[in-house]
Amino acid sequence: MIDTLPPGTLVLETQRLRLRPFTLSDEDLARALLCDPQVMRFVTDPLTPAEVAAHMPNAVRRGAGGRIGIWAVEEKATGAKIADGVLTPIPIDSTEPDWDQVVPDAYPTDLIEVGYLLTPSAWGKGYATEICARLLRFAFEMTALELVVACTDLKNLNSQKVLRKCGMRDCGTGRAYAETVAWFEITREDWLVRA
Ligand SMILES: CC(C)(COP(=O)(O)OP(=O)(O)OC[C@H]1O[C@@H](n2cnc3c(N)ncnc32)[C@H](O)[C@@H]1OP(=O)(O)O)[C@@H](O)C(=O)NCCC(=O)NCCS
Repeated sequence: MIDTLPPGTLVLETQRLRLRPFTLSDEDLARALLCDPQVMRFVTDPLTPAEVAAHMPNAVRRGAGGRIGIWAVEEKATGAKIADGVLTPIPIDSTEPDWDQVVPDAYPTDLIEVGYLLTPSAWGKGYATEICARLLRFAFEMTALELVVACTDLKNLNSQKVLRKCGMRDCGTGRAYAETVAWFEITREDWLVRA
């Protein structure tokens, strides 16, 4: 049985950002990210607004007592919604996470990936690193996960740099989202050594 974390525990602060669980009222943020070809350049084809609306029930799912899911990221100084951050099951041979694994009382059986998408106006400020580092801290302080993985398009060098800055090990190429990707990992032990 997994204890449910109190909602306040799922609000994650950094120096400049606030990460809070995604809600249905964040459809505007989901559209700003998922429908923007610049944001989606290395991810997948941009979604249509109708596809984003269909995705929202999954976007607000929480697994493992609240620990697994998607966070909306706000800039503290302005309150603007600027990004998302995820700890979600990584798909290997399909293009979508298996959302059915994101259930309140169990950890997904698939590996958990850390990920982020930022609106273009928020790029170049160190925010992706701040988001990723905070999610890894949460993963190793507040969950039972022993390993967190990440992947990027082979050409997404900026995102690979973010993962390295957060202490993730470059494992070369791997398979995720039904393609060959750049694969990164960090174990609880790696994280503790850095922390
Ligand atoms: C790739 C992407 C995640 C990078 O985000 P980002 O926030 O710009 O990345 P970083 O955290 O590395 O910050 C970039 C630069 O901001 C600069 N910066 C400016 N102010 C800073 C501050 N106060 N603190 C830290 N860095 C700062 C740094 O120079 C940093 O680069 P450097 O460490 O190489 O010098 C972002 O461009 C993005 O979302 N792209 C589209 C979607 C995508 O590819 N997502 C990832 C899918 S795997």
